[in-house]
Amino acid sequence: MKPNRWDDYYARRAREEKWLARSVYKLQEIDRKFKLIHRGDRILDLGCYPGSWSQYGLKKVGPKGEVVGIDTHAPQRLSAPGFRFIQADVLTLDVTWLSEEISLRHVVLSDLAPPTTGIRARDESRSLALGRRAMEAARTLLRPKGRFLCKVFEGEDLVCFEQELSTEFRNIKRFRPKATRKNSREVYLVGSGFGVQP
Ligand SMILES: C[S@@+](CC[C@H](N)C(=O)[O-])C[C@H]1O[C@@H](n2cnc3c(N)ncnc32)[C@H](O)[C@@H]1O
Repeated sequence: MKPNRWDDYYARRAREEKWLARSVYKLQEIDRKFKLIHRGDRILDLGCYPGSWSQYGLKKVGPKGEVVGIDTHAPQRLSAPGFRFIQADVLTLDVTWLSEEISLRHVVLSDLAPPTTGIRARDESRSLALGRRAMEAARTLLRPKGRFLCKVFEGEDLVCFEQELSTEFRNIKRFRPKATRKNSREVYLVGSGFGVQP
């Protein structure tokens, strides 16, 4: 049988451990390092399909917490008490409507990724547009001192985006988890202390 180049250590481990995607190990590493998700938290998970981050979040927040996931694709293999899915395109989603639908969040996660074209500048700018959209959602939906995690592709405008986030969060860190594929240009920005001046 021809080897599948995507079937690596993390993909196999995810299957064995019954996670819906290998990307769970990125969130797990970030969570362990930055203490992102706490028991009882309410999470917004942007770009939640196929559902491993929401699955991980539900486990961490426990029965008193909740996760709302948003994606254009429905995560059909994830159904759990405490999970609500909203099918929407975040680029056109009305954040004011969303703020009337769901309560303020302790954590906003964004693993949003555009379909890649291979044209570096185009992929970077689409990824950044999704990151900015996640930031807008966080601005409306995060509780004071809330936490934020956002994937973006590395590029020349990344520093600019980090500076924008620094005006909203006490602390912004850039991090590349071990499970990130070697040839990927993605990095994660971790924000803490929403609305707290440095
Ligand atoms: C890398 S996957 C997320 C994986 C997920 N964190 C997990 O662990 O299962 C990125 C997701 O972003 C979603 N996405 C990309 N652009 C979007 C948009 N404009 N609106 C909503 N979802 C979008 C894709 O449909 C895809 O499911």
